[in-house]
Amino acid sequence: METKKKSSFSGSLGFVMAAAGSAVGVGNIWRFPYLAAKDGGGVFIFIYIVLLLTFGFTLLVTDIAIGRKTGQGALKAFGTMHPKWNILGKFTFLVPAIILTYYGLIGGWIVKYILVYITGQGGPAAQDGYFTGFITSTVSPIVFLLIFMAITAIIVYFGVEKGIEGFSKAIMPVLLVLIVGIAVFSLTLSHTDADGVTRTGMQGLAIYLIPDFTGMTFSRFMQVLMDAMGQLFFSLSVAMGIMITYGSYVKKDVDLNKSITHIEFFDTLVALLAGMMIIPAVYVFSGTEGMAAGPSLMFISLPKVFDAMGTVGAVVGLMFFVMVAFAALTSCVSIMETLVSNCMEMFGTDRKKTSLVIAVIYIVLSVIVCLGYSVFYFEVTLPNGSVGQLLDVMDYISNSFLMPLIALFTCVLVGWVVKPKWIEEEMELGGYKFGRKALYRVMVKYIVPVIMVVLFMQSTGVLAWIESLIK
Ligand code: PFF
Repeated sequence: METKKKSSFSGSLGFVMAAAGSAVGVGNIWRFPYLAAKDGGGVFIFIYIVLLLTFGFTLLVTDIAIGRKTGQGALKAFGTMHPKWNILGKFTFLVPAIILTYYGLIGGWIVKYILVYITGQGGPAAQDGYFTGFITSTVSPIVFLLIFMAITAIIVYFGVEKGIEGFSKAIMPVLLVLIVGIAVFSLTLSHTDADGVTRTGMQGLAIYLIPDFTGMTFSRFMQVLMDAMGQLFFSLSVAMGIMITYGSYVKKDVDLNKSITHIEFFDTLVALLAGMMIIPAVYVFSGTEGMAAGPSLMFISLPKVFDAMGTVGAVVGLMFFVMVAFAALTSCVSIMETLVSNCMEMFGTDRKKTSLVIAVIYIVLSVIVCLGYSVFYFEVTLPNGSVGQLLDVMDYISNSFLMPLIALFTCVLVGWVVKPKWIEEEMELGGYKFGRKALYRVMVKYIVPVIMVVLFMQSTGVLAWIESLIK
């Protein structure tokens, strides 16, 4: 069928590192800790792990097995599985196509903070209004965005084995060392504030890990559940065609079962470590109120924490943002690679030309989203009730609207049309054991589809509307 030899990862390690590189991103380091702090610490962590081993596992298996079995990206893979389902490929392709309009922008913000700590600007960066001043300016965020997008494009340009795999293999171990180092440092912190109250890192750790059931009603529990589910999808990079693309690069002799367990483990380990690093540090210097910062945690609360640490804060701040930049880069690479790879298959073009064209298109689109904080500023109330700007609108469409729908239809296709056996064969190829097969079958046919409908109704505001009718 294929005339050209398809690119592939050199083996299991290369695949795991690249896939973990995609999965480990700003979602793990910034979003997971603030959700854990908001949603009752250990309660959130427990629910997240249960969902990971059931829902996360099911979707990761589905995406990777589809990719390897069809040898294609999402745009063509679904049509190969069943001609009538080609349209699902188009919707799946839309998710990375939307995410890439803003992910590079966030990457640019991270690069800016690396520069802040290199040039000893940690003090000013801790002042109120610094971050807002930066993102609402017109030139500076665009320059940083260009730097980040250019590095991403260069890695994609060099291809699967030399570019993506080589970069991930070099970077992921460094990332792990950095995060463990900062987490350990965070636990040793202790600070006495102006009122004479001393708080320690270990107390912060207790807040992070010990389940807090205060105010846990049924509807609150549902909220935590949905937060954890949304986070899980985003974090594992599933239901967006990325793992299908990476799956299509895996050689047939690799044991997918083992690789998938490693990816799940690595992604969750980094998320847990990120919480261990951020929550105690914020708690020590800003108390429990500091942790309610939400999305502004990474760029507003943390610089204040680094500043309060004194001289050592500048070094820790630099290490922190370098680590986040690595995480964001490997994720951004996976998004751009998915677009490039699908377009190469679609138009029969070569990698170099396709990467250049995609890079140029997305630099233009990212600049527009970037200007959404200045020239094109507007605010809208999204269907889930939150208020956002252009970036939040893109994020809402891809993550809250499209992802549950894609997960739902992918599971219907696998569970009811081609049947789970189709996936099982791929997981058992080469005589390997598909460990959680029975669980997989029940999940893909019944549980995931039902919960995706609920998740979709929640994120589109339908659930809240039904609740208001009942009350
Ligand atoms: N999974 C990555 C994270 O947790 O940040 C981010 C990500 C990568 C999101 C790729 C979306 C994506 F398409």
